[in-house]
Amino acid sequence: MSRKGLGAITGVAKDQLLAAGRATRKAGLQRTLDRAVPKAKTDRTPAGGFDFGSLEAARQLKIHRAVGEALGIESPFFRSHDGRAAAHTVIGGETMINWSSYDYVGLNGHPRIAAAAQEAIDQFGTSVSASRVVSGERKVHRDLEKAIARFLGVEDAVVMVSGHATNVTTIGHMLTPKDLVLADAFIHNSVVEGVRLSGATRLTFRHNDLEHLEALLDRHRANHSRVLIAVEGLYSMDGDSPPLRPLVELKNRYDAWLLVDEAHALGVVGATGRGLAERDDVDPNAVEFWMGTLSKTLCSCGGFIAGSTALVEYLKATAPGFVFSVGLPAAAAVAAKTAIDILDEEPERGTELCRSGQRFLNGAKAMGFDVGTSEGSAVIPIIIGDSILAAMVSHKLSKAGVNVQPIIFPAVPENAARLRFFITSNHTDEDVDQTLAALKKCMDETLSAGEGLKQLAEGLSRQG
Ligand SMILES: Cc1ncc(COP(=O)(O)O)c(C=O)c1O
Repeated sequence: MSRKGLGAITGVAKDQLLAAGRATRKAGLQRTLDRAVPKAKTDRTPAGGFDFGSLEAARQLKIHRAVGEALGIESPFFRSHDGRAAAHTVIGGETMINWSSYDYVGLNGHPRIAAAAQEAIDQFGTSVSASRVVSGERKVHRDLEKAIARFLGVEDAVVMVSGHATNVTTIGHMLTPKDLVLADAFIHNSVVEGVRLSGATRLTFRHNDLEHLEALLDRHRANHSRVLIAVEGLYSMDGDSPPLRPLVELKNRYDAWLLVDEAHALGVVGATGRGLAERDDVDPNAVEFWMGTLSKTLCSCGGFIAGSTALVEYLKATAPGFVFSVGLPAAAAVAAKTAIDILDEEPERGTELCRSGQRFLNGAKAMGFDVGTSEGSAVIPIIIGDSILAAMVSHKLSKAGVNVQPIIFPAVPENAARLRFFITSNHTDEDVDQTLAALKKCMDETLSAGEGLKQLAEGLSRQG
């Protein structure tokens, strides 16, 4: 049904009619999918064990696969790369422009980092084998923590073996069922899991909407012992960020704690990559928890919490994910520390990234693409609003030498399905221009009305 044929009716009625049309189409699609991937009749394997394939979640995965096959597109997930994560990659022998790495400032594989990591392996082996509390401690751990704290301008830091686990264990440990977490609607899953573990109440405020946050603080603050506000320094789905100054003012006024997850902001946001505090000229010591990962800009693996000495000492003595988990391998610690040293010496890497991000953002806007609220630095979405079309365009782009991931329902709402481009300082102007031209071509070819759904229905009926 097109909007054109509905000229005589009001806007609201028109929208209702279109929504009804979409719902009918979806119901038809659901019936076709149910026929193509029927529900399991038994939850037992032939050997008598439980068959996990009988779970509804497993059926949903089969449905995703069936949809992909019907559309003739390979799964964009678990694509195997033959080399390092960087601005360019090799997949199945083909060199591609890669928009799916977090190597934001182009340090992955840097000769100085590789040499330092190799030396660390020669000296310490590939594992420190135990929790640092018992016998896993090596000097390289403290060197890294001190470098992070100095880089961010706070008293101290603690590193853990995974970024995700850092949020889970820190939030899970610091809060109790009497507490409240107010999280931005687009906050990362690791924060959500941490809150779940803590038993605290979680309420979400609309994305970057501090008026909504204030209204929630006003209504709920008095009912809870501690309150934590959780935001990201640069949102990984949308490439935008909150203003830090009013956030700090709010959390002080309501006697709350603030956690800023800088996973995507470190090395990217602020004149020298020191994140939101640098960009907004706020004393970093005013924020209780600076969280970050070692896996993106710092091209290693692990996570950190940076803040006051008292906080760091407390986490190191009591947080289960630190106390009862192995220390970082020395090579990972040294790689991240060397990356910080290079960031210190070469702050122009972040500037270069932002230049490419602006070129991409402006070029995409000029072509009429919906880039949402992206600020045009490290993360730029192209919002397509239809999971199937997003997957089809991503597939077509892969055939044109461009690797970009589709982000589809349920990771984002269906009407926000998108392609997500991660910009790095090593992407060239040609990479940006070539990609945008290919994107336009692939989109034009794919985006003719309903093509995705029609192709899907035909493909599934052939399978069913
Ligand atoms: C905002 C945010 N926080 C935390 C994490 C977890 O970090 P890691 O992948 O290093 O475990 C991620 C991962 O992408 C992230 O985007």
